Amino acid sequence: MDESQARNDALRAAAPAAIVIDGVARQFNSRGQSVTALDNVNLQIGDGEFVSFLGPSGCGKSTLFMIVAGLLAPSRGEVRIAGRRVDRPVTDIGIVFQQDLLVDWRTVLENVLLQAEVRRLPLAPARERARQLLQQVGLAGFENRRPWELSGGMRQRAAICRALLHDARILMMDEPFGALDALTRDQMNLDLQALWSQTRRTAILVTHSISEAIFLSDRVVVMSPRPGRVILDLRIDLPRPRTIEMRDSAEFVAYQKQLRGMIGAH
Ligand SMILES: Nc1ncnc2c1ncn2[C@@H]1O[C@H](COP(=O)(O)OP(=O)(O)OP(=O)(O)O)[C@@H](O)[C@H]1O
Ligand SMILES: [Mg+2]
Repeated sequence: MDESQARNDALRAAAPAAIVIDGVARQFNSRGQSVTALDNVNLQIGDGEFVSFLGPSGCGKSTLFMIVAGLLAPSRGEVRIAGRRVDRPVTDIGIVFQQDLLVDWRTVLENVLLQAEVRRLPLAPARERARQLLQQVGLAGFENRRPWELSGGMRQRAAICRALLHDARILMMDEPFGALDALTRDQMNLDLQALWSQTRRTAILVTHSISEAIFLSDRVVVMSPRPGRVILDLRIDLPRPRTIEMRDSAEFVAYQKQLRGMIGAH
């Protein structure tokens, strides 16, 4: 670790947590039955940290994701972002879902620019930034295509550009690469790492892939089967930038084993 990185880490450690999840529980009532999706989740995420969430299907990852984004209210507890209680949709945030939610009748560039339009940001600089982002993820030359002319990976790249356009402090992704083949997914992980390292936004990623979580994250959080609770909060001490080859290293494999054991054991 070089000196400036050590200084940044020290500053970050001293800064208040960007996101505090404080005693969050959530119940759903459907057809007369009550389901406890989350039960007393406590977690702090530092400014600029990349944190992934792993856990079995139905353990409440998306529910927690929606609560942090202010799109769903907790039944108990609260989320605070930069010290403020979240009680409405968070605006200083970029979100990517599993389905890319691109609008078919708009071009790729116009889809990215949607972010600026709904936020009423000046369009000329936004267009410039959109072009830059698209270029960084290998979509230069596709600005005027329609989403249906693109592959799944390309569409998801465009969706990430849209989430990054307004330079929000927080980037949130719920299984953004779930539908992609392994090779495309590797490339997406590299691209996402490169984009994230330029600005080091606070990032939350929900994924089913243990290796994707290790590859991208500073911390990997494992949740128990429903009702979801945090059962492991693992710091990933691998140098950055991470490479695909690093996945064969002894350290990487050890993290993988530890996480696999934790997910399998509950
Ligand atoms: N709107 C809702 N109404 C009723 N039950 C819900 C609702 N949303 C989620 N649930 C229930 O809460 C639990 C957690 O769901 P959630 O979608 O958060 O899981 P998940 O961890 O994201 O799963 P997956 O990995 O399959 O995406 C599930 O039992 C689900 O059926
Ligand atoms: Mg989910």
